[in-house]
Amino acid sequence: MKKFYYIILVFFFLQCTKEENTKPDIDNGFVAPTNFPAVRYNLIENPYSNEKRELGRKLFYDARLSRDNTISCGSCHQQVASFAHAGHRVSHGIDNKLGTRNSPTLFNLAWQPLFFWDGGVGDLDLFHVNPIQNPVEMDETIPAVIDKLKTDNNYLTLFNKAFGTSEMTAIRFNQALSTFLISMVSNQSKYDEYLAGKTTLTSTEQAGLDLFNQKCASCHTGILFTDFSFRNNGLSTTSDLGRFRVSVIATDSFKFKVPSLRNIEKSSPYMHDGRFNTLDEVLNHYSNSVVNTTTTLDTILQRNNTLGIPMTNDEKTKIISFLKTLTDNKFLNDSRFSEF
Ligand code: HEC
Ligand code: HEC
Repeated sequence: MKKFYYIILVFFFLQCTKEENTKPDIDNGFVAPTNFPAVRYNLIENPYSNEKRELGRKLFYDARLSRDNTISCGSCHQQVASFAHAGHRVSHGIDNKLGTRNSPTLFNLAWQPLFFWDGGVGDLDLFHVNPIQNPVEMDETIPAVIDKLKTDNNYLTLFNKAFGTSEMTAIRFNQALSTFLISMVSNQSKYDEYLAGKTTLTSTEQAGLDLFNQKCASCHTGILFTDFSFRNNGLSTTSDLGRFRVSVIATDSFKFKVPSLRNIEKSSPYMHDGRFNTLDEVLNHYSNSVVNTTTTLDTILQRNNTLGIPMTNDEKTKIISFLKTLTDNKFLNDSRFSEF
């Protein structure tokens, strides 16, 4: 009998010591990290499966999604750059055409309420038509893409595995791409390990975290490093009206979605128009170059009659060293998200 109690005790002990901040178990269904907020993506309408993720991965890296079969989603969203476009200020698409906005990072999309810098799309399943039909990105239509893919037996097999029959519809196409995108969870950075008590920060990183919490976390908030609001952070000479283009409310002019800062070390250049190449430039902007020429500058950036966020060079160095603890090398090298 004693032995029996002992076994139960050991069982409870093992349960309690299970890692708190587990890696999302996407090989056995979509399990959100325990310290993340509630998932926004509708997993009831489009239940997660590895087969859908695998089909979505193939579609993401398939250049046949573009008119002349040269540009894939992965052309502008590269894993090494945390799925932003390395070294490209604005998007660079079909026929070498340039867009007007910087390609954002892609991860933790299951938690994101609105997509695009201006939040113009609210449903990830309805998102994919945008880059595909955009004349400066892929310049193609989903029906034409599906006609191209139908001639490829691999896709017949992949659709069959993912949906039970090989029928290729726009809905299935969108759902598979979304499943791939929501599977891209980044929660294994040094900072996450620190939160889980598995590592410590250096004194510089710790000082940077404290400064970050005082100076940056009111907008780059919480475990996702964004509150998903639209704000004007005082960039000079912007012609892009941002959130106004969607809401047509004057007070939304020049406001852009607060981006997550996870993996920020890897996703240069920065801001909606890719104007800054380095994190030093970003911090110099916040400390020295915030302007109030647009009337919608965030009130947080004009406290005590001071424009911007006053910081010494030493404080900037510390904040940057903290930001680098948000780099998630496991995510950036995870073969489940790679082309091959
Ligand atoms: C030519 C480059 C290019 C291609 C190709 C491209 N994208 Fe993008 N992507 C961008 C740019 C630029 C934005 C931001 C546009 C904006 O905010 O107005 C963006 C935004 C996004 C977002 C929104 C992210 C967020 O945080 O709001 C998602 C999701 C996305 N792309 C997925 C895809 C998928 C899936 C494909 C393929 C079907 C694709 N992209 C193809 C450049 C590209
Ligand atoms: C008032 C809200 C607010 C505060 C405070 C704030 N930011 Fe931002 N941040 C934004 C917004 C909004 C953007 C996007 C602006 C754009 O692209 O037009 C942004 C963009 C960035 C980017 C570029 C991200 C990318 O993917 O291109 C970095 C890096 C950044 N902020 C770091 C910081 C740091 C570090 C601090 C503290 C010193 C800070 N921010 C304080 C709102 C804020």
